[in-house]
Amino acid sequence: MKILLLGSGGRESALARVISLSNKIGKLYISPGNPGMAQWGENVNLQGFEEISIFCKNEKIDILVVGPEQPLVAGIADFFKVNNPEVTVIGPTKDAALLEGSKDFAKDFMLRHNIPTAQYKTFTNQTLAQAKDFLRTLKAPYVLKADGLAAGKGVVILPTLEEAERELDEMLLNSKFGAASSKVVIEEFLKGIECSVFVLTDGKNYIILPEAKDYKKIGEGDTGLNTGGMGSISPVPFCNEAFMSKVENRIIKPTVEGLQKDGLEYQGFIFFGLMNVDGEPYVIEYNVRMGDPESESVFARFSSDIVEAFIAVGKKELDKYNLKINPNTAATVMLCSGGYPEAYEKGKVITGLDKTKDAIIYHAGTKRDSEGRLLSNGGRVLAVTCLDNTLKEALAECYSTIDEINFDKMYFRKDIGQDLL
Ligand code: AMP
Ligand code: GLY
Repeated sequence: MKILLLGSGGRESALARVISLSNKIGKLYISPGNPGMAQWGENVNLQGFEEISIFCKNEKIDILVVGPEQPLVAGIADFFKVNNPEVTVIGPTKDAALLEGSKDFAKDFMLRHNIPTAQYKTFTNQTLAQAKDFLRTLKAPYVLKADGLAAGKGVVILPTLEEAERELDEMLLNSKFGAASSKVVIEEFLKGIECSVFVLTDGKNYIILPEAKDYKKIGEGDTGLNTGGMGSISPVPFCNEAFMSKVENRIIKPTVEGLQKDGLEYQGFIFFGLMNVDGEPYVIEYNVRMGDPESESVFARFSSDIVEAFIAVGKKELDKYNLKINPNTAATVMLCSGGYPEAYEKGKVITGLDKTKDAIIYHAGTKRDSEGRLLSNGGRVLAVTCLDNTLKEALAECYSTIDEINFDKMYFRKDIGQDLL
């Protein structure tokens, strides 16, 4: 099989690695990829759907795996249906990708299919007065969500009514998130503990991948600004059998069936961002892709052949796929540039990667200079993932690996997974 994988971050690194482990892989291309991914495939640089489509024709690509959400929300799966119908695309059509592309669409979908989620209403600048009335019916804290994609920044949680009203003005009247906040979802605050559940679906059948927990805040003890994610662990101790069975029956099944009922074509990963409220699961958000840095931990535990799963998706025969998961625990710690998620410097020389034997090192934001030295090239630079019998051992291995790695102003959280030990 020949595969083209789109993306360049830690998530795509994890996908590239697990694809490279398949017995079915002939050739893996990655666009644009990164220096770390070059150990698992060949990086190419393709711009726009047209170029990607022509490349797939010329190289006789069998499967296109779309890492990030943007090309899906922009309709790459639909473009391939017309121009490259012979290619299996792992990623939903544009209409189905609205599950991530529009919070209002996602909430409406959940309401329609009876999927547990926070109560909500959606407003525009035409209905600002009603929005403020609705806010007054809720208890603090207040959750405001820009409807569209806002690079992970579109959710704002405010402690007081005054601040919530001011934020609402910013979003609806002053276009704080541009077109993304021309509609705003206001919803009930759910108090609980979050986890991420992933499935791969062919539109009818699905397999449930290992669940994970990510650590979103920059500071220890989950404090400070939100980031793209500072670490992850899998499995999640509180996602026990009872909880996961509720997740499957109340959330996963109705979602896959709902997509079918609504005529939404979906082949690919579904990411359920969940809140566990006293043992009851609620959907916080859908994403139409894998999570980052969850993928780094999730795919470290994936023990069957992922390319066979992709082939089964293409044939709509995922019910025949034999999923194998390593029962051990995976932990991932992100190494970031000092200052991230605010201003930070790039171009710092990274050393010590040659001494990191037992860990998986995924690159998230790196590049090589003309002398071949590895440099930092983003806020999140490297993900260090270890798999061991227990969470404690996996974490210890991550942190002893990190002792070997260095770049100027390197920052990482020292408390990943501590809350679950
Ligand atoms: P999202 O961008 O949808 O993942 O939201 C960002 C974060 O906001 C989530 O990971 C949650 O921590 C938090 N959040 C979103 N919606 C709610 C809610 N209804 N209740 C409590 N926390 C929420
Ligand atoms: N880790 C959260 C996300 O990928 O959106």
